Amino acid sequence: MRTHRCNELTESHIGAAVQLCGWVNSRRDHGGVIFIDLRDSSGVIQVVVDPTNAESFTLAESVRSEYVIKVEGAVRLRPEDTVNPGLDTGTIEVAAQNINILNRSGQLPFQVDEDDVNEALRLTYRYLDLRRGSMQLNIRRRYQLTREIRNFMDEQEFIEIETPMLTRSTPEGARDYVVPSRVHTGTFYALPQSPQMFKQLLVMSGFERYFQIVRCFRDEDLRADRQPEFTQLDVEMAFVEEEDVLLLMEKLFQRVFRTILNVELPETFARMTYQDAMSRFGTDRPDLRIPLELVDVTQVMKAEEFQVFKRAANLEQGTVAALNVPGGGTLSRQKIDEYTKFVAEYGARGLAYIKVNDHTAGRNGLQSPILKFLSDNVLREIVEKCDCQSGDLVFFGADTNDVVNASLGALRVQLGHDLDCREDGWRMLWVIDFPLLEFDRKLNRWHSLHHPFTSPRPEHVELLDSSPDKVLSRAYDLVLNGVELGGGSIRNHQMDVQQKIFQTLGLSDEETKEKFGFLLQALQCGAPPHGGIAFGIDRIAALLSNEESIREVIAFPKTQRAYCPLTQAPNELSSDQLDELDLRIKPSASIFRDEHN
Ligand code: AMO
Ligand code: AMP
Repeated sequence: MRTHRCNELTESHIGAAVQLCGWVNSRRDHGGVIFIDLRDSSGVIQVVVDPTNAESFTLAESVRSEYVIKVEGAVRLRPEDTVNPGLDTGTIEVAAQNINILNRSGQLPFQVDEDDVNEALRLTYRYLDLRRGSMQLNIRRRYQLTREIRNFMDEQEFIEIETPMLTRSTPEGARDYVVPSRVHTGTFYALPQSPQMFKQLLVMSGFERYFQIVRCFRDEDLRADRQPEFTQLDVEMAFVEEEDVLLLMEKLFQRVFRTILNVELPETFARMTYQDAMSRFGTDRPDLRIPLELVDVTQVMKAEEFQVFKRAANLEQGTVAALNVPGGGTLSRQKIDEYTKFVAEYGARGLAYIKVNDHTAGRNGLQSPILKFLSDNVLREIVEKCDCQSGDLVFFGADTNDVVNASLGALRVQLGHDLDCREDGWRMLWVIDFPLLEFDRKLNRWHSLHHPFTSPRPEHVELLDSSPDKVLSRAYDLVLNGVELGGGSIRNHQMDVQQKIFQTLGLSDEETKEKFGFLLQALQCGAPPHGGIAFGIDRIAALLSNEESIREVIAFPKTQRAYCPLTQAPNELSSDQLDELDLRIKPSASIFRDEHN
């Protein structure tokens, strides 16, 4: 239907007769001449229709935004004063001889080039929203990403293998999405939270280097970087240790960033232990672009008079931490109150602070309502440990470890934003030496920090009985600028260790057999040492496109309430379908019918 695409045309085509197809980006009437910006997936070019060409002119007068048209005409140079430097094709235009309307467009819910369209509306008319230049770029860049990954993995002799979508529950810490079985009424498949068990089985099956770009499903609280269905790059390898996996994945990311962004990542990525990440940044996914750090002052507060600090310092799981803010002395009382409210959202019961007017003048150089409760020694220690300078302000958190880490960790990120002190760059970080288990106080039992297939350090296996909290795992996470890109581990390839972990997690022998019997069986049939990792493709794509939300890099995402405004899924089943599945909706069930979710 066409000889060229809009953006292919250059001054070298002047005089050529061309046929173009596309959408009407805009139409302007200027003193009897009509200008149409014609858009296709390559870009935009200006088409000019003058009234001497009566038939086409009448048609051109009738076209509206997003009409689909075909244009036949000749390429010519634009008069100098009408050159548009904002367009690749800005020095030329097509003088139309013939215009054909291929399809009309009705009233649009929003203009394709309009900014600030409400997200619900964008998602309802996603096919229009995706026509925008920025969305076209994002989706194309995402494709570049997966293509580059496939090329790399192929060169490294990995093969892509598909695993089932209708399967059993995989424990990744979220709720399952389930699918009822018609053949086996009363039973359900679970959609995979990840292909974890299958990829391990594939390696045991002799596919020593597996990968897959695969959809995963998790019913969990959604956020900007979480969707109910998302895509992983899933990797598993036989005969490897941590170092093998980490170094290979560094190569992959170096390649991706080089080809897509023309950015050189460091030759080796930084590494930090989980313990360090938590105590210095309050989180296991620190944004290293923010030059602020927490300082643990628990020890020195144990005997201080200030009850708030003393109590927290003497808790078994308590912490007192300081966060020095360079130049923070200028923060207003009102701003400090705002931050106090901010940390309250993370459970903090207050936000003590000390202003450092003169860091060389001891107590006299400091200013704070809590000064009178703190000894000279402790004040000196704080100024030294936090490396305070005159004009700084130190915030304090005193509570359980969890509350202090969550609140000061979040405050650190907020301050980085508010004070505009975030450095540029791509700060890749491996977080290593995670604990294997975490104690769940509510359920009164241990649970896996990663998943139960993660191997403990061999020398820690015997601690599983006596002190599970001290067992370190062979897991690793990759973090980029505060975003967890991926995580993985060396797995349990020995049946007895795997069984021991299930026991420590409080699973009975029957439960273990019922849920994981096939895996334990496979581990007894010659399972090689193996390990792997999985990355969130949506998150990588969002970072590459400089987007805050992964919804901007997913063609058809769901809302924060796991709803698709375009297709209006999820929806009710017909009574026939329910009958076939032998299912009945409880009369008490409040069926969701909100169209504007
Ligand atoms: P994990 O649970 O850490 O590991 O998941 C791997 C990565 O997947 C991405 N991710 C998500 N992205 C968008 N929306 C979500 N709801 C979501 N949940 C996770 C994150 C995350 O780092 N089986 C293990 C991997 C392994 O051990 O090999 C696993 O799934 O970027
Ligand atoms: P109060 O004695 O409750 O008036 O608190 C004195 C100062 O300590 C105030 O600035 C509070 O914001 C702060 N504060 C109170 N509880 C905590 C806490 N758990 N962590 C940090 N600061 C706190």
